[in-house]
Amino acid sequence: MYIYKVGVVGAGMMGAQIAEVVSYAGLPVVLADINEALAKRGLESVRAIYQARVDKGKMTAEQLEEKMLLVTASAGLDGLNEVDLVIEAVSEDAKLKAQVFHELDQVCPRGTILASNTSALSISALGAATTRPDKVLGLHFFNPAYVMRLVEVVPGLATAAQTLDDAVGFTESIGKLPIVVKECAGFLVNRVLMAYVNEAVRALQEGAATRQAIDQEMVSFGMPVGPLALLDAVGLDISYEVARLLYRSYGPRMTPAPLLEAMLKAGRLGVKSGHGFYDYVGGEEGGRDQEMEHLLQAVRPNRDQGVTRWSRSRLLWAMTNEAVTALQEGVASAGDIDLAMVAGVGYPKDKEGPLHFADQLGIDQVLHELEDFAHTLGPRFWPAPMLRRMVDAGFTGRMAGRGFFTY
Ligand SMILES: NC(=O)c1ccc[n+]([C@@H]2O[C@H](COP(=O)([O-])OP(=O)(O)OC[C@H]3O[C@@H](n4cnc5c(N)ncnc54)[C@H](O)[C@@H]3O)[C@@H](O)[C@H]2O)c1
Repeated sequence: MYIYKVGVVGAGMMGAQIAEVVSYAGLPVVLADINEALAKRGLESVRAIYQARVDKGKMTAEQLEEKMLLVTASAGLDGLNEVDLVIEAVSEDAKLKAQVFHELDQVCPRGTILASNTSALSISALGAATTRPDKVLGLHFFNPAYVMRLVEVVPGLATAAQTLDDAVGFTESIGKLPIVVKECAGFLVNRVLMAYVNEAVRALQEGAATRQAIDQEMVSFGMPVGPLALLDAVGLDISYEVARLLYRSYGPRMTPAPLLEAMLKAGRLGVKSGHGFYDYVGGEEGGRDQEMEHLLQAVRPNRDQGVTRWSRSRLLWAMTNEAVTALQEGVASAGDIDLAMVAGVGYPKDKEGPLHFADQLGIDQVLHELEDFAHTLGPRFWPAPMLRRMVDAGFTGRMAGRGFFTY
């Protein structure tokens, strides 16, 4: 099926970004929200994204107006009665989304594909809220959608193969990089990323290193931003919610670091509240730095246990171990996992992703370090069974000519 006209429901931050991406690719898009004022506000957000391109000299004011002709606002869902694809981007609330899918099912033509941009909710459950679960799937864009190329394409239990093909073709046609991901909590990227950022919070909580040292070391490894600064940017409220969802699905190894909850309770939500792991008002060493120290003292394990050891491998192998677990489960191929982590979270390009990097270092070495961490830091580091199988069979990475990839 050729997807031409697109609808976006929810004209908030992500909805406006997605509408910009679709119109930039030359396709008409209807941007819908609860009422006219909100839909028009969304239209203005789309214009602002284009305006920033004009200001940077990347497009002309005339081109901006041409693109804006492709975007129309709709109060309510009625304007979506002749689109080929709807991308839902309303607030992350399971009940609200199910209701929106139920209504879309009534408004849209039978052939329309209904996609959700949800970060963590069940695609299969959204499909079940319609009479066309075969035409429902996840299209998970990353923020900011006009910069980030990756889109996770997530079929639910009842999604038809044709729907998946159509959605992949559409995603490519708007200049994005689609990665098909088997449905699981956090999909691929947020799940693997959370193992890494949560370990950073644990390292801080356990006194292994300072905030600055943790972030600086990961930036020097090649990450675009340190894990604690990243949490501040995303918002600790949203991050904690995702962490809880992952814990519910994967159990103890994904237990949210207690410091995360303590910070949430103290109202330190990150950039949006002015304070998170860092202070964003009144300078870096602002008055609430002391509060951070008190929080740390309150959640640190008792003094007899001492501080835990810092090493950047602690964070890197937490991420790799989750990536291998996802690989074992068939969530995505090894190549797609690496591509997704490079395109979705900025894993350093020269290292080609967590699985390539493990191959480069040696799977036997990664296994050995994980075993050590499992004994010294806790069972959350228990190595994914696939790692041991690989080592036993001589799949130890680049040096051996075979690991996650063949060399
Ligand atoms: N913020 C991110 O970084 C990010 C990244 C990837 C995915 N997502 C996902 O994208 C979705 C939207 O997130 P956001 O940050 O843009 O939220 P947002 O709060 O900025 O926007 C949500 C919009 O939905 C509208 N809305 C609510 N109920 C509606 C209804 N019944 N009909 C039409 N519109 C309705 C609201 O008025 C609001 O404009 C969520 O599912 C979120 O998990 C967010």
